[in-house]
Amino acid sequence: MPITPSLHQASKLESPLPQATIGGEGRGEGATLASRPDLLERLAIQTFERDQANLRRRLRTIEHAEGPWLESDGRRLLGFCSNDYLGLSQHPQLIAALKRAADDEGVGSGSAHLICGHRREHAQLEEALAEWTGRECALLFSTGYMANLGTMQALLARGDLCVQDKLNHACLLDGAQLAGAELKRYPHADIEAAARQLRSRPDAAALLATDGVFSMDGDVAPLAALAALCAREHATLMVDDAHGLGVLGDDGAGSVRAAGLSQREAPVLMATLGKALGCSGAFVAGSAALIDGLLQFARPYIYTTAMPPALAAAACAAVEIARHESWRREKLQATIARFRTGAAQLGLPLMDSPSAIQPLLLGDAQVALEAAQALERRGLLVTAIRPPTVPQGRARLRITLSAAHTDEHIDRLLDALAALPKPAGAGGPV
Ligand SMILES: Cc1ncc(COP(=O)(O)O)c(C=O)c1O
Repeated sequence: MPITPSLHQASKLESPLPQATIGGEGRGEGATLASRPDLLERLAIQTFERDQANLRRRLRTIEHAEGPWLESDGRRLLGFCSNDYLGLSQHPQLIAALKRAADDEGVGSGSAHLICGHRREHAQLEEALAEWTGRECALLFSTGYMANLGTMQALLARGDLCVQDKLNHACLLDGAQLAGAELKRYPHADIEAAARQLRSRPDAAALLATDGVFSMDGDVAPLAALAALCAREHATLMVDDAHGLGVLGDDGAGSVRAAGLSQREAPVLMATLGKALGCSGAFVAGSAALIDGLLQFARPYIYTTAMPPALAAAACAAVEIARHESWRREKLQATIARFRTGAAQLGLPLMDSPSAIQPLLLGDAQVALEAAQALERRGLLVTAIRPPTVPQGRARLRITLSAAHTDEHIDRLLDALAALPKPAGAGGPV
């Protein structure tokens, strides 16, 4: 049960709650007698409750980044929490492409794509992404969050059915809800449950949406089985491959390619440019008809400024490197294997993940937080992920690995994990 503070208690918070106003008292002329709840006050109380439950989120400023090394509060920390899986975010070719395009084209795109913001750099990137993923066309969005909202809002109408894995990323869940679809969430990777949910409304237009690689667990969705289910049930499959692109599949084309799914079998493919590609932004790839439909109806595409063309130029350079420098994927896989072998030897609570996301499931939010703090004291930055981002009782250290990590970095991480205090009753460390 969350504890609701009295305003007296709340006033002891670091950032005091706003003063209660009763019936507009103290507001001077124009005060009303309305008993409306005060929105700012309500928000402050919710923040207080989150703090009391040890779930408060805090922002950290990184003063400088250099490969996996991060400087924060004047300290140099070895990071295991970035999604820069191939180590491309500081690659000289990306930086050169960004600078060149900025020199030629300036910084901002100046307008939305459909006005005059769609530049040559965007068109080239879309072409490169479509070719890489084996799709007819691609459409850029400024963020993955917007790509998912826009795609779902364009595809789904009020009352349609949207079936989703329970562990899908928040923006897929938000996308279905904002589109007004009926959202049904099946237990993680449970094909039979997904089938039952689809069959519960056989006449409804239906989208089945899944992460390709699950962002907090690191495992891969059973894509081939989901595609077969969608074909049987006449549902449309949408895959969010934010964490698979660049990492999985032949030439890094992602989890959909690794599962061997064609455009017909997985017609809506979304992925981001801010993770393995080391940039920022996202795209949806699929048939020309899908992309044209998004161009007509996806509001987060239509009503927003196009990403800076220089960023698109950098992402184009990243696609080239991610496709052709397969040694980066091999190095990442070797790093993952080294970590998993070492963690298993230490008896750490590894999850069943083949990807760059290697969480250690600790359960209790406070235990996860204290483990992250202990690692930080030893110079390592690892994020504790707590509810509501993950389910209650499933807090974890979300360790992410990169091709930029060396064997020595991994050994250092393992040493620090081995030194964490054992929770009461546990057999191994952490
Ligand atoms: C699975 C997944 N989809 C979408 C997003 C959102 O992408 P973006 O950061 O580009 O908004 C994220 C994380 O950021 C993610 O993990």
